[in-house]
Amino acid sequence: MPIRPHGGRLIDRVAKGDDRERLLKEAENLQKIPVTARDRFDLEMIAIGGFSPLEGFIGEDDYHSVIDRMRLSSGLPFSIPITLSASRGDADKIEVDRKTALASEEGEICALMEVKEKYGYDKKERAQKVFKTTDEAHPGVAATFRMKEVLLGGPITLLNRMKHDEFNEYRKDPAETRQMFEELGWKTVVAFQTRNPVHRAHEYLQKCAMEMVDGLLLHPIVGETRGEDIPVDVRMQCYIDLLNGYYPKDRAKLVVLPTSMRYAGPKEAIFHSIMRKNFGCTHFIVGRDHAGVGNYYGTYDAHYIFDEFEPGELEIQPIFFEHAFYCNKCGNMASTKTCCHDKSEHVFLSGTMVRQMLREGKCPPPEFTRPEVAQILLDAVKTGKWK
Ligand code: ADX
Repeated sequence: MPIRPHGGRLIDRVAKGDDRERLLKEAENLQKIPVTARDRFDLEMIAIGGFSPLEGFIGEDDYHSVIDRMRLSSGLPFSIPITLSASRGDADKIEVDRKTALASEEGEICALMEVKEKYGYDKKERAQKVFKTTDEAHPGVAATFRMKEVLLGGPITLLNRMKHDEFNEYRKDPAETRQMFEELGWKTVVAFQTRNPVHRAHEYLQKCAMEMVDGLLLHPIVGETRGEDIPVDVRMQCYIDLLNGYYPKDRAKLVVLPTSMRYAGPKEAIFHSIMRKNFGCTHFIVGRDHAGVGNYYGTYDAHYIFDEFEPGELEIQPIFFEHAFYCNKCGNMASTKTCCHDKSEHVFLSGTMVRQMLREGKCPPPEFTRPEVAQILLDAVKTGKWK
């Protein structure tokens, strides 16, 4: 039996065929509320079931339950509030229990929403509870402070998906990844979350896990990330070349995850694993400072937070890894769990150091990254794709 979606049922709120045509016509004459690019990613994830059991943006009871106790009001684990904000002026125009159209910044209708609730919220409280800080230098806090004043709760129906010119073969909804795993005969699948090119430590984690399960889903986030993170098209080229060069074709698959980074560290690790469960994965890798940024979270806080749930409650199984590195004495990748040598033997490069090297046209060493990946990054800096 494949792993159940979170809450037991895979949500599908994507309008299709005649239904979609009819709803699009209906939407033309409705009150329109503008949504941001970030909201569109959330809309899409709700509609395709990536955020199951959510059928829309959460209401006030769920909101407080999620930020206070990492659960929906039903008791089901959920660690990040998925909300839609509107300006007071727009919110005033909406009639509760009536349909409203959600339109992109360019005016394209994206979805219908049946607004069930409009409610106020405290941004500082939200930032503190979700991100453990109210420091605006934290990208998740900054995004929270950019939100509008009123939250709207209620179910949505997606009418227009975001259009993409690239990497369409790597875009798969949860129903499709589930189907793919079945066709491949994978009963156990480990998901790997990333917002970076895959370097040697990532590869080590993935391959350790691959020894234990049937297959790997390399599942990079392609929604909004921080400006200084590496652009999606550059990362995608790294993933494709790395998989082609170093992984068995029938044991590792690349699929993109259309959601935004929140940089909520431990709480995001729970959220990341819930999403991967919806895509049909049975295992999820959590390494050092998962989804962290700066020094806001302890190195292994994203491991400890899983203890706040009953064993097996999340159903997807986390696989925890300590800090991994290349050890010159061992002559291979290792972690403090497996290596007895002095730190001076370990190849460690921070993100800032790597960026500096690339800017100077220097190639990071093969102990840190595969040469094919290093070349793509060097080219990205040279052509100004990544600054
Ligand atoms: S994240 O924001 O998506 O977590 P990143 O893409 O760097 O950032 O990390 C992807 C996964 O690899 C996360 O689970 C992270 O904890 C893990 N990770 C990254 N680098 C290391 C490392 N050197 N040792 C162990 N785990 C790591």
